Amino acid sequence: MNTKKKIGILTSGGDCPGLNAIIRAVVKYAHLKDWDIFGIPRGTDGFIDVAQGKVEPESLKLQPHGYDVPGVLQGLDILQFMSGSVLGSLSRGNPAEEDVTLDIIEGYKRLELDALIAIGGDGSLDIIYDLAKKGGWNLVVIPKTIDNDVAFTERSVGFDTARNTVTQALYDLTFTAASHERIMVVQVMGRDAGHLALHSGIAGGADCILIPELCPQLTPKTIEGMCKYIAKLRCDRRKFALIVIAEGVHGLNNQKDTYIAETLATLIREYSHNLCSNGNKEYQGLDEIDTRATVLGHLQRCGVPSSFDRILATVFGIKALHLIEEERYNRLVIWQNGCVESKSLEQIMPMIKWCHQENTCPSPVDPEGFMVRTASSLGIYLGESNHD
Ligand code: F6P
Repeated sequence: MNTKKKIGILTSGGDCPGLNAIIRAVVKYAHLKDWDIFGIPRGTDGFIDVAQGKVEPESLKLQPHGYDVPGVLQGLDILQFMSGSVLGSLSRGNPAEEDVTLDIIEGYKRLELDALIAIGGDGSLDIIYDLAKKGGWNLVVIPKTIDNDVAFTERSVGFDTARNTVTQALYDLTFTAASHERIMVVQVMGRDAGHLALHSGIAGGADCILIPELCPQLTPKTIEGMCKYIAKLRCDRRKFALIVIAEGVHGLNNQKDTYIAETLATLIREYSHNLCSNGNKEYQGLDEIDTRATVLGHLQRCGVPSSFDRILATVFGIKALHLIEEERYNRLVIWQNGCVESKSLEQIMPMIKWCHQENTCPSPVDPEGFMVRTASSLGIYLGESNHD
């Protein structure tokens, strides 16, 4: 069965730490097997360039030492330590025009690939699955995203590093918050899912964590509850507070708000003022606390990949090649119960597509799950419905 294979690899959607570690593992193992790996630049757009003759197929071949470093570091296998994607990535959604789709399919054909490894999140998975069906591709998908919201896998490459980055940011912000006796509101990425906010909020010692699964939108009750909660903290010696809000939480009008942390900070100021205006001693001084918002932004997608992400990336990359070796195509590589597995795309795609159509997250935080219970048992304020 060990005939020489030609395999394409691409990264699609938002970048994250660990993409290069996947590529490095795939290239290394393929080299041992004497298989050819073609790095497709800029997601599926790279196929268009091939179809249009702008790129020579040979120039896309990846070599194990293709990314060498100078001087005494020569020969150092540096790729797994670097975040971003050496192939470049694309996050502009579905190729809208039919003629682009045809070019993408033509590009795959011209490269005469036996299989394609696509590294992507939920959105990319959906798009590439359709392309693969149309083009008759042999597809293996590796999940990556700092949002950790790819269905059927417990972990996606990039999540662990982002969790560490956000946790570190919360730790850093704690000391400036304490020095100025401020309320710090920190906006964390995650798209429609609250995994990143919840995990890093717990690890970073947040007092309040708002995630879309428990608090889909800010409500007057939630703001008031939060202000009362902070007032209580103040009675118990704490003069500052750390609030984490996931970007997926909507504003009072139930609209998506790019600066939801700033909105929350403003609302906290207003409600603190209201609570204090009736002279209630319990809330005394609450309206004098400074409140500041920080949007962590794309820093959350940066940084040296954590050891777990490097391990996950390497294990996923090798698993993808094992599946191709066994000619088990059209599968999603997954992490389940501390082990690498795979799932048939045919089986899982209907559920994923249904979620996308309904605009719901395919892999949200479980409101009854152990992470929420842990946060709640620590006394972290999670919104009005999770607070007595
Ligand atoms: O899906 C990863 C992610 O970083 C989300 O957490 C975030 O909402 C989004 O991508 C940002 O996308 P862009 O880089 O296109 O602004």
